[in-house]
Amino acid sequence: MADPLPLNTPGAPGPRHRDAIEQIKQALGDKGWSQDPSVLAPLLVDTRDYYHGKAAILARPETTEQVAEVLKICHEAGIPVTPQGGNTSRVGSATPDESGAQVLLSLARMNRVLEIDPVDYTMTVEAGCVLQDVQNKAAAADRLFPLSLGAEGSCMIGGNIASNAGGINVLRYGNTRDLVLGLEVVTADGQIWNGLRRLRKDNTGYDLKHLFIGSEGTLGVITKAVLKLFPLPKEKATALCALRDLDACLELLTRARAASGDALSSFELLAGITLNFAYRHIDTAKRALGEEYDWQVLLEFSGLEAGDMMNQAMETLLEQAFEDGLVIDAVIAQSEQQRADIWFLREAIVEAQLKEGASIKHDVSVPVSRVPEFIRRSNAALEEMIEGVRPYPFGHVGDGNIHYNVSPPVGASDAEFVAWKERINETVHRITADLEGSISAEHGVGQLKRDELPLYKSALELEMMRKVKQALDPIGLMNPGKVLKDG
Ligand code: MLT
Ligand code: ZN
Repeated sequence: MADPLPLNTPGAPGPRHRDAIEQIKQALGDKGWSQDPSVLAPLLVDTRDYYHGKAAILARPETTEQVAEVLKICHEAGIPVTPQGGNTSRVGSATPDESGAQVLLSLARMNRVLEIDPVDYTMTVEAGCVLQDVQNKAAAADRLFPLSLGAEGSCMIGGNIASNAGGINVLRYGNTRDLVLGLEVVTADGQIWNGLRRLRKDNTGYDLKHLFIGSEGTLGVITKAVLKLFPLPKEKATALCALRDLDACLELLTRARAASGDALSSFELLAGITLNFAYRHIDTAKRALGEEYDWQVLLEFSGLEAGDMMNQAMETLLEQAFEDGLVIDAVIAQSEQQRADIWFLREAIVEAQLKEGASIKHDVSVPVSRVPEFIRRSNAALEEMIEGVRPYPFGHVGDGNIHYNVSPPVGASDAEFVAWKERINETVHRITADLEGSISAEHGVGQLKRDELPLYKSALELEMMRKVKQALDPIGLMNPGKVLKDG
């Protein structure tokens, strides 16, 4: 075993590095690697165009054994590895550094659904399966895999697991962590850990899979997973409603859970500005409510029986909420097309903000009951800091997870606004911490929040994290520079 190559040192690779790269090529065969700049280019930049990296080679193994072979070679030669799935990270977790020494390890060719067991309500998949394919295969077996998020058409389940992705159904089904029963992992030194258990109960000591879930590729490479399935809902009721004010969202949330027999699967907050941007910038966004409102909620019930119980429950809920002045306008989807149109608005607001110009994004969580206070305090602090600033909050309010994004004042230059980024981040994150929240609810830490982590985690917590990293990746080759500064 060799010492790792010095990172961030262009030109560091020497003969030992070149030999190792040749060994990787041989281990993977012609289809299993590329050094073609045009193939590598899109994989070396993150979706937000913040992080740009280089790689000595793109390794595209087809089997777990090949992944193990690559990691063994890298371990022997001290070459760092950046694992990558669909490259949809919001925090730069899947982008290698700029040294050019790293191996970019794509799981994209490992994309088979291996088994669906409708009795066990489980599904065994390879890490490179696209999330939407996983959902579709489960549905074809009359089962639900509930993880759902904007990038589902391209993100891969291995990346979802490695980043403990959240999304729009967490309220009812939990985060990715709650949806995984077992994992197969290749360790940093190239051994294969078969933890592909499909047990609902297994109390045999430390539950190691949970170390890898949410580790963002810094401890090992997830190659397969056993996922938890659920009964496929047979009836959905989807509504968009305008609220009396921000506080009304908490009362409506409580009522919605009770009215549906806890079949509430999504409860998403949309500030008025987000829909205005969507209508302005996205041609296919169809106006759902006649007027503009400050605060709207998209909520969905997912019932297990066919019929119209959920729709009736939604009508009763909203009528009552209207009478009580909680809700001031609402539309319930009357067809699949209308449901899709409403959900399209929710997705469109992310792109719409980018089309408006510069944006500063956050992914914070606070206790659900404190969401209105969090938004009010953040708005007030930013408005005091920058005249005319446009807060752009939306997200999974049912989970206490708000994407408290910010757009510049009308007329301000992007550069002027971006110069405020650190102060804005600090202000929003301080308020989050003050409300006992988290600075990363569902997107992870990656490179984006790595240096901020020590401000919000205790020295003891960070020390325990470092010890875990040290134990599983002693020479620091797995996705270095992500999550932990010195990791
Ligand atoms: C969302 O909930 O729409 C996303 O997590 C936000 C994003 O991708 O920035
Ligand atoms: Zn989100």
